[in-house]
Amino acid sequence: MPDRTPYIAANWKMHKTVAEAAEFVDALLPRIAATQADVVICPSFLALHEVVERRRGTAVRVAAQNMHAEQSGAFTGEVSAPMLVELDVEAVVLGHSERRQLFAETDEALALKVPAALAADLEPILCVGETEQARDGGETETVLERQLQADLANVEPGDLEKVVVAYEPIWAIGTGRTATPEQAQEACAFIRDVLRARGGAADAVRILYGGSVKPANAAELLALPDVDGALVGGASLDAGDFAAIVEAAG
Ligand code: PGA
Repeated sequence: MPDRTPYIAANWKMHKTVAEAAEFVDALLPRIAATQADVVICPSFLALHEVVERRRGTAVRVAAQNMHAEQSGAFTGEVSAPMLVELDVEAVVLGHSERRQLFAETDEALALKVPAALAADLEPILCVGETEQARDGGETETVLERQLQADLANVEPGDLEKVVVAYEPIWAIGTGRTATPEQAQEACAFIRDVLRARGGAADAVRILYGGSVKPANAAELLALPDVDGALVGGASLDAGDFAAIVEAAG
């Protein structure tokens, strides 16, 4: 089985001005200088440039939180992959549950966005996850499989290993209620099985867990065999807490 480099991403959502982003990066860099993990920061569009410039010469990578599938056009308020690449942004979060639930992001749109990101050499961080109702109804695997099959429909099996998948149970996001290690492992292993069945090099794909990850629970989650990293929301806003999570990844 190939070694999978741990992957820790900070999803700032709609937090941090440019000045606050700069302050965070300056505080974070010395704290994570020794890490072997892939560290990715996902600021607002407006702070992307500042974070890209401040992390130059370091291993920290930068991701946007969304993009449009088209390269340009009459899409007021949207940003395209070439615009992100021009800034030296390297990755993009796609299909976060907040975008799906609050901004009506559809699987049909994601089926276009994921290959558009890959075509532009942006690493897609594709988020999937079930609602509490789906989990209680025993439908977790059905939901995950449906999202993965739809969102990856236009990705060639040979390109699957370039996608990072984040398992984010919606009931665990921002609630302080983390999935148990058993729940996280089971879902991430299931995701890997679905990728394998699609003919991809599933053992090479990084699968992250997201949902109330914090310094106190990171080590336990990151030690799970099919959890290769974390997508961190609330706890990524503090440089000390985020550095502690990166440290837990090795
Ligand atoms: P949280 O958010 O860590 O605040 O639960 C995770 C996410 O939404 O990516």
